[in-house]
Amino acid sequence: MRSLICDLSHDIIKPYISKDDIMVDATMGNGFDTLFLASLSKHVYAFDIQEQALSETKKLLEKSKIQNVTLIKDSHENIFDYVHDFKGVFFNLGYLPKGDKSITTKVESTLKTFDQIIQRLNVDGFILYVIYPGHEEGNKESIALNEKMKTLDPKIFKIIRIDLPFQNNQPPYILWVIKQKSDQH
Ligand SMILES: C[S@@+](CC[C@H](N)C(=O)[O-])C[C@H]1O[C@@H](n2cnc3c(N)ncnc32)[C@H](O)[C@@H]1O
Repeated sequence: MRSLICDLSHDIIKPYISKDDIMVDATMGNGFDTLFLASLSKHVYAFDIQEQALSETKKLLEKSKIQNVTLIKDSHENIFDYVHDFKGVFFNLGYLPKGDKSITTKVESTLKTFDQIIQRLNVDGFILYVIYPGHEEGNKESIALNEKMKTLDPKIFKIIRIDLPFQNNQPPYILWVIKQKSDQH
């Protein structure tokens, strides 16, 4: 079953994606986010390091008769080897649900990819993270990404956090970075 936070992550970006947009799903997993992004955009480039993710996503897309997707078996760190211009990048961090929990997104590569994307984001472009601080690596990603947010110029970037502040056990949350202005003054 999808979580409330995953559903919300779709609801909030939906109005900001149009049929002219290229989107990136940095962590395709079972393909639910890829399918969602593809239904709204011109094309989706979806990344995952696990063969299982590509085969599950391929099945889901075929069942849904969705063709405007390129599935890439590579780390999101290599995004710019495949795609150069895009509206937004979607990260649903962590491990494949019902899969091998040791194959999870890692703080070093998550930060490395952030640093690359943020420099090349177009005005109105965005990066959305669904973050899972309830497991060890997810907690490291959570801390590191929040520190990164503090380094961004608030005149250029708007940063939105949606979380569940009154729930126990470090529930997942959304961090959404939108570039609202050019950095060329
Ligand atoms: C929480 S799952 C994604 C859920 C997915 N978006 C969906 O709709 O089902 C996280 C995925 O990130 C993948 N992953 C881990 N490290 C990665 C990396 N460096 N580059 C791309 N994908 C990675 C994992 O293999 C896993 O499938």
